[in-house]
Amino acid sequence: MKKILVIGAGGQIGSDLVPVLQKTFGFNNVISAGYQNDLPDHILNKGPYTYIDIRNKKQIEENIQKYNIDTIFNLASILSALAEKEYLLSYEVNFTGLINILEASKSNNVKQVMLVSSIAAFGSYTPKEMTPNDTIQNPNTIYGISKVFTELIGNYYSDKKGIDVRGIRLPGVISWKREPTAGTTDYAVDIFYKAILEKEYTCFLDKNTKLPMIYMPDAINALVNLLNAEKSQLKHKVDFNINSMSFTPKELAKSIKERIPDFKMLYKIDPLRQSIADSWPNSLDDNIAKEEWNWKAKYNINQMVDDMLYNLKLKLNK
Ligand SMILES: NC(=O)c1ccc[n+]([C@@H]2O[C@H](COP(=O)([O-])OP(=O)(O)OC[C@H]3O[C@@H](n4cnc5c(N)ncnc54)[C@H](O)[C@@H]3O)[C@@H](O)[C@H]2O)c1
Repeated sequence: MKKILVIGAGGQIGSDLVPVLQKTFGFNNVISAGYQNDLPDHILNKGPYTYIDIRNKKQIEENIQKYNIDTIFNLASILSALAEKEYLLSYEVNFTGLINILEASKSNNVKQVMLVSSIAAFGSYTPKEMTPNDTIQNPNTIYGISKVFTELIGNYYSDKKGIDVRGIRLPGVISWKREPTAGTTDYAVDIFYKAILEKEYTCFLDKNTKLPMIYMPDAINALVNLLNAEKSQLKHKVDFNINSMSFTPKELAKSIKERIPDFKMLYKIDPLRQSIADSWPNSLDDNIAKEEWNWKAKYNINQMVDDMLYNLKLKLNK
């Protein structure tokens, strides 16, 4: 049985990933590492937990040794919009912090490290429609550059340093358990809270900005399936496109309005996030992930909207 350390467990994805890993591998085999007391109650109340700042390699090593860790998920990151404002902090966390994790893993016999890249790893020269898995990557954001670095350094440690490093390029992730922090696709989560509570939402992206998105259960499935995939079948390592759904703010608003008829969408464009979104793909070709580890998304936009509204209404007592 694996002994898994989930770093960044208090974030949007970690909060959903930890319960699934606990169910699959056992409560005592999943150690949740939060940052600055950010772990939610459902993690604090079940299974071992700790706090790690990935800028501190010693802290990572102490926890690997204390819990006999053989597998790490790194979800700690400074996301796109905040990274543009705080680029040196993003450098410390997304670059140096990642190296700390890989080096701590190498010196302490960690066998597998799971990383998360993003559609931000592409850029203006990348084909926008059905972006191929292996293509030109020229991001012009510090976040995007850090994701290309994540893919390349992950592949390097996998090829040259004896660690089994794997990872996916996630589209914008939509979920109800934990609110997102500072991403460019956050509108697609905020809109549900506002639709339920205020029947009106002011979107920071243009109504026709089409972006690839994924519902959290599919994102978690992708991470767990790639973790468990047969190593000999994988030609790629940290750079798998996965595709699920693509839509514009206008299309998402329409789907919500079909279920909440008095919902109204307004637009006030944020130039920073709009420019980031404009440099990202519209949709992704994920045939390589399908071939190498049988990736397949389950949710389309309407199924996602139904499930989000159902769960958020329960969460918000509405
Ligand atoms: N959410 C998305 O839409 C999305 C899309 C593509 C890729 N990703 C990637 O998925 C991963 C997880 O993202 P998320 O959505 O859960 O983000 P998040 O911002 O919700 O979580 C990131 C976590 O990292 C923690 N953190 C920040 N600085 C840290 C430090 N120095 N040491 C340790 N932890 C620190 C934060 O407290 C936070 O809990 C990231 O690599 C992100 O780039 C997310």
